[in-house]
Amino acid sequence: MAGLKVAVLPGDGIGQEVTEEAVKVLEVVGKRFGHRFVFREALVGGTAYDKRGVPLPEETLQICRDSQAILLGAVGGEKWDNLPPHLRPEAALLALRKNFQLFANLRPVILFPPLISASPIKRSILKGIDIMIVRELTGGLYFGQPKERRELEGERVAVDSMVYSESEIKRIAEVAFQIARGRRKLLHSVDKANILETSRLWREVVNEVAKSYPDVKFYHLYVDNAAMQLIRNPRQFDVILTENTFGDILSDEAAMLTGSIGMLPSASIRGDGFGMYEPVHGSAPDIAGKGIANPIASILSSAMMLRFSFGLEEEAKAIEEAVRDVLEMGYRTPDIMSKGKIQVSTKEMGDRIAQAIFK
Ligand code: IPM
Ligand code: MG
Repeated sequence: MAGLKVAVLPGDGIGQEVTEEAVKVLEVVGKRFGHRFVFREALVGGTAYDKRGVPLPEETLQICRDSQAILLGAVGGEKWDNLPPHLRPEAALLALRKNFQLFANLRPVILFPPLISASPIKRSILKGIDIMIVRELTGGLYFGQPKERRELEGERVAVDSMVYSESEIKRIAEVAFQIARGRRKLLHSVDKANILETSRLWREVVNEVAKSYPDVKFYHLYVDNAAMQLIRNPRQFDVILTENTFGDILSDEAAMLTGSIGMLPSASIRGDGFGMYEPVHGSAPDIAGKGIANPIASILSSAMMLRFSFGLEEEAKAIEEAVRDVLEMGYRTPDIMSKGKIQVSTKEMGDRIAQAIFK
């Protein structure tokens, strides 16, 4: 049997600890459902820079190319903040996204009912939220050229370029409408069309794509308003479609609806089964190595991997249910801890979830 090939790239900071738990959970899923995973670990980010002199070594790319999915932890840390842009840990993440053309980043924002009191937002506002943020991931400000430092009239000037082509907008819009079709058939496209030319093109193309999805109700929303509406009334959203930078910002904001950014998984896909799966959170160097990081975002990312890369829906659900069960039993990492609950370490949370898979 060939096995299900997964490249495991723990990366920096808490990336190491949380990824270990996700792999643990996947192993248990493999045992329960009779799948053989082939995990191959590789260096990425600052850790790769320290050992190989580059944040994304060729051997890592090779392992990724030879896999069906990438399970990534996190990259980055103060230690590497002063490196030139192309050697920074974040450059590896962007290169992976670009190299493998992972243009669609799916970030589900789901509130597990037992965590309702972990969010700083009022219970009445939070109840029943279930949002899918569809973030364009390989265009916009992150990649647009020119992107450089200049000197102009004796002072330092910097430029980033926001660029979108109609084909880039079309393909991400198609993904979002498809997803909306499988959910509550409601889509909000977020832009800044009152100011940005890229947003005006975005609106045009989204309107064209929408014609093929008459069953999906859709609205355009300015990003500033979207940021406000997410807190004012998050329940009004089903699918949020947006470009790279807006999606980055809105997904961190949305994370707080779920209680902790330690809860948010993500999938970066391109429509053919290959994908990269990573928590929305970063490497959190301040808490790294203390055994207190929340592994749930990583574990839920591995569930997304089963769903999108391997078509294993039942197995993905088993992970999601195990997470819910463990939260219902009262186990909490410090970021989601509340009175009367049982505080556990990163490892213990992973163990509990793995045990719950065999319930
Ligand atoms: C994310 C992260 C990354 C991004 C960083 C680490 C480059 O914030 O995945 O949301 O901005 O895309
Ligand atoms: Mg981000």
